[in-house]
Amino acid sequence: MKLILIGFGVVGQGFAQILRDKAAELLREENFSAQIIGVATASKGALYHAAGLELQSLLEAAQAGSFASYPEQDGLIRGLEVDEMIAAGDADALVEMSPTNLETAQPALDFCRRALDAGLHLVLANKGPVALDYAGLKSKARAKGLQMRYEATVMAGTPTIQLAVDALAGCQILSARGILNGTTNYILTRMEAGLSYDEALSEAQALGYAESDPSGDVEGWDAAGKVLILANALFGRSLALDDLDVSGITEITAADIAEARAAGQRYKLIASARPDGGAVKATRLPLDEPLAGVGGSTNAISLKTDLMGDITLIGAGAGPLETGCAILSDLLAIQRMPSAT
Ligand code: HSE
Repeated sequence: MKLILIGFGVVGQGFAQILRDKAAELLREENFSAQIIGVATASKGALYHAAGLELQSLLEAAQAGSFASYPEQDGLIRGLEVDEMIAAGDADALVEMSPTNLETAQPALDFCRRALDAGLHLVLANKGPVALDYAGLKSKARAKGLQMRYEATVMAGTPTIQLAVDALAGCQILSARGILNGTTNYILTRMEAGLSYDEALSEAQALGYAESDPSGDVEGWDAAGKVLILANALFGRSLALDDLDVSGITEITAADIAEARAAGQRYKLIASARPDGGAVKATRLPLDEPLAGVGGSTNAISLKTDLMGDITLIGAGAGPLETGCAILSDLLAIQRMPSAT
């Protein structure tokens, strides 16, 4: 499968590492082989080679901060625009991993539309296009017999979307409630251990969980974007951020946390999606609730269903390999059923 990648930050590099390290296993076990033929970034430059870029050199150039250090080779084109990469006609799928913009989803949204128009499958780690135009992208994909997959957008490689959409097909999902932002869960956990808000945020940033602008994490918008995605995937509802009741953890003080603890409770930033709407809100939970026991950067989601009762999924919500794993899983699903949307 030939891929064009948009963005090559933490997630893109994690995905490339997986392809490099698991190439033989994927070929043997899944008959899967992927070539990254194009990479377009805002800060490192752009590379294109119709036969595939060399992964180790790509990773080393990214570590050095610029694709200028990627070695010359016959057929290598530097500086192509995304539209030119799509128009070249060599790729099978576009993988969108650039930073999330929940206001316009651009420029990623236009790239996604053009990729589908050109007959490329679409895999996203970028939440913006899925949160803001799920219905439009899905309908374009369906009309072309292509897939749009977005497992990485909610709980990284922890298979939230596949669980809800594929494994629980036939169940009605009545509501979803979870911890969908690792940065804020990490901060709340570390504040309970005695760190200040600023110290805990710096640690989360150093560990690579936070968005490029962490205000989106701590004010609840990252989790809200995930609620919009779940509203579409679980309930077929296209909501806007304005439809949600959103607040974050910026007002939570050490005193609040101590008071909750004295009452046998714990603060969690709870994101919820229901057929009639959704919310993101710091909430005091009794310690014996499953979500109260989910600490650090770990995410969790509880689905209330008609046939299966409650199902709770706990796992990573961020990280290079963890998010790269979701992209790989989506590509494998496309290979298995290229025309299922
Ligand atoms: N900034 C996000 C988080 C990363 O902290 O969970 C994954 O969306």
